[in-house]
Amino acid sequence: MTTPVTTCRVILIGFGAVGHGFATILAQHGERLRRQSGIDIRIVAVATHSRGAVIDPAGIDLAGLLASAGHAGGLAALPGATRLAPTDIIRTTPAEVVVEATWTDLATGEPAISHIRAAFAAGMHAITVNKGPAALALQALRAEAAACGRHFGFEGTVMAGTPSLRLALEGLQGCAIHEVRGIVNGTTNFILSQMERGMDYATALAEAQRLGYAEADPTGDVEGFDAAGKAAILANALLGAALRPADVARQGISQITAADVAAAAAAGERWRLIARVWRDADQVRAAVAPTRLAQSHPLAGVTGATNALTISTDLLGDVTLIGPGAGGVATGFAIVSDILALYRNR
Ligand code: HSE
Repeated sequence: MTTPVTTCRVILIGFGAVGHGFATILAQHGERLRRQSGIDIRIVAVATHSRGAVIDPAGIDLAGLLASAGHAGGLAALPGATRLAPTDIIRTTPAEVVVEATWTDLATGEPAISHIRAAFAAGMHAITVNKGPAALALQALRAEAAACGRHFGFEGTVMAGTPSLRLALEGLQGCAIHEVRGIVNGTTNFILSQMERGMDYATALAEAQRLGYAEADPTGDVEGFDAAGKAAILANALLGAALRPADVARQGISQITAADVAAAAAAGERWRLIARVWRDADQVRAAVAPTRLAQSHPLAGVTGATNALTISTDLLGDVTLIGPGAGGVATGFAIVSDILALYRNR
């Protein structure tokens, strides 16, 4: 007996490292995903703000799409190229899911929040890997999704495709969570790890950018804004808070020098940028700060763009998850994971 296949048509907004990673997964593993899950994921439109857009209602040819990333003409050279703006494409292209993968703006959440609202208005589910909407408007967007019977997925906003939010929200459902702490920014962890190996700060940052870990403006990473945004998401999604990124006490790693790294090593310690959210009486607090940890501490052994979170609960004690926290394919997998969850939970 063959499993019936459901087609999931996706409008992808943004085609940077994550959009490219998502398309790569579908190109290389789409057939296996279809066999395993019974879901045939097809990208029917890709829309960007500066590099054009393309629509094919039958599913865009992925090889051509992926090759376009290296061409100066971008998407404009592909069959089905259009000048329509992202919100017009959402309004006029039949699809089940809108994936929001544009740049993160932690001050306004735009244009991503508008893309997500356009998806709900068009009767589609929305999945974001963009941290802006989840950090600034999580409860509102969840309510708007529920009001129109759609789903709002945001797994990829913390720890990329490593299922941190799903672990806490589904696997640990029934436990009370009172604290979450760990490493949630891949770029800074990569930089600190490379500095421990003798690389200078600027070279390590350039390497993190080349590998697709860093934000479009890496100030967001090194000054702790990205980690603060993720701390707000963790506080709001897991501890029921209503914090904004600006409410998170924040310090980045840009002031940490090679001498600081060497001094920590001489003392048997390592620097890590630690994000922490916790209950304090009837309030939820959040902080991000570089912290010296003994080399024997489990978080000190987490290197490169890998992330780690320890979730402290009443019934299980501490549960720790370690896995990729940045990168195109690692975050592209979060989109796949949210799409499969959407059909599994229906
Ligand atoms: N710039 C982010 C990081 C990307 O380095 O962790 C993943 O959210």
